[in-house]
Amino acid sequence: MASEGHGPRATGEAILFIRGKRQAARLWAPQIEILAATHRVVALDVEGDDPVAEARRLLDDLAIPSVNVVACGDDGLIALDLAAAHPQRVRRVAFVDFEPPENTRLLCPVLRTRADGGPEAINGALAGFLGQRLSRFDNRELRSAFGSFITGVTIVTTAGVDGQPRGFTANSFTSVSLEPPLLLICVGKAAASVDVFRHAAGFAVNILSEEQKDTSVLFASKRPDKFEAARWRPGPFGNPLIEGSAAWFDCARYQVIDAGDHIILMGHVEAFAYTDANPLGYARGHYITLGLEQAAVNAASSASRTVVGAILESDGRLVLLPDPARPDGLILPEAGRTGPNGSASQLHHLLVREGMDATLGFLFAVFENPETREQCIYYRGEALLHARGRTVLADFEDIPWDRLPDEATRSMLRRFAAERKIGRFKVYSGDHRQGTVKAVD
Ligand SMILES: Cc1cc2nc3c(=O)[nH]c(=O)nc-3n(C[C@H](O)[C@H](O)[C@H](O)COP(=O)(O)O)c2cc1C
Repeated sequence: MASEGHGPRATGEAILFIRGKRQAARLWAPQIEILAATHRVVALDVEGDDPVAEARRLLDDLAIPSVNVVACGDDGLIALDLAAAHPQRVRRVAFVDFEPPENTRLLCPVLRTRADGGPEAINGALAGFLGQRLSRFDNRELRSAFGSFITGVTIVTTAGVDGQPRGFTANSFTSVSLEPPLLLICVGKAAASVDVFRHAAGFAVNILSEEQKDTSVLFASKRPDKFEAARWRPGPFGNPLIEGSAAWFDCARYQVIDAGDHIILMGHVEAFAYTDANPLGYARGHYITLGLEQAAVNAASSASRTVVGAILESDGRLVLLPDPARPDGLILPEAGRTGPNGSASQLHHLLVREGMDATLGFLFAVFENPETREQCIYYRGEALLHARGRTVLADFEDIPWDRLPDEATRSMLRRFAAERKIGRFKVYSGDHRQGTVKAVD
């Protein structure tokens, strides 16, 4: 059995109140009375043994595409099952006097509240919860789209209010104004230190250098000993400055603005310094090193011939092509070995011609091949083969080393295979024997 009510201003979202078999018919009456003025309100009186199916039928019959579900006590289990079975239809779930079992993961926002504050307290909690505007988007997709913006990486620190330094990794840094000197960062409300930052007299922004990826990982963690594990000193305005940073700004709190699931923390710069260290970069969930990108640009603009190639994986195997210069020889997909100098766009054309849909990721190596004097720039990436064509797929454990063109290619692929095994790639610049290897994600 179901009852439905909505008042003249009931333009809000639909709310489904669940009344299990053992619940009194009066349950939710004070909530229904209030919320029916602004929402389409439906109450389900569970009758059979399949309350999820009953709820779904009711929503179908009333042509309600999506709903907020409210349940009390053990009826919370019905709400849980409904949300798990129909995640597209359940926008939010509010539990009153019900603790979902541990490890419960619902995709929608959840409210837990108690009945002991009386009907008014429940109404207040529900009104606040149901009044929150939800994004119309899949948040993972939105996060990926935001991640297309290349940023630097900072560690934001504060001396705090209790003498305990706090800090976390942030890429939401923005310079705001020169007169007065202002900057901002955004702090997630889920961060353990959000309240400390909200109330602290100031904070420092440390712009990380490309040597500091590990420090970034440390401060993005929940470790309680972040400041014991890092090298730092107090700044002129009292906030911790991380040693080795490319730049730092010690700030007084200027303004705190509430912004959805973050707060915007604006700081007035009291002191700052910078070095010529290369800043660490971040894009699409990966760290990038601008120094290496620069090495690639330099290599490409140098007088010698430039080869641009790719180490591609397809279904976990290495993509190779026949070497036109040697019978039985194999090469990596590369542009510029013959003809004009290679470039990334030529490499793309070549991959398309060979029937591959390839995504080139980050740079893997930039070096001068001593045998050929060529400047070599190699990216790593993934390839989807539309047509097998001329491609040869090799297992990483069984690369046909003697069919590869030179020692530089062999030594680069040996390193790739080893780093692939442990899932941690480094970037390499130099020649095939000496150079610097830098860790990136
Ligand atoms: C590259 C990167 C950038 C990040 N940017 C931010 C950010 O701008 N704001 C934020 O609140 N958290 C950001 N985080 C997540 C925090 O560093 C992380 O949640 C941290 O655990 C918060 O520390 P706390 O919970 O100990 O306060 C970022 C993490 C990484 C790896």
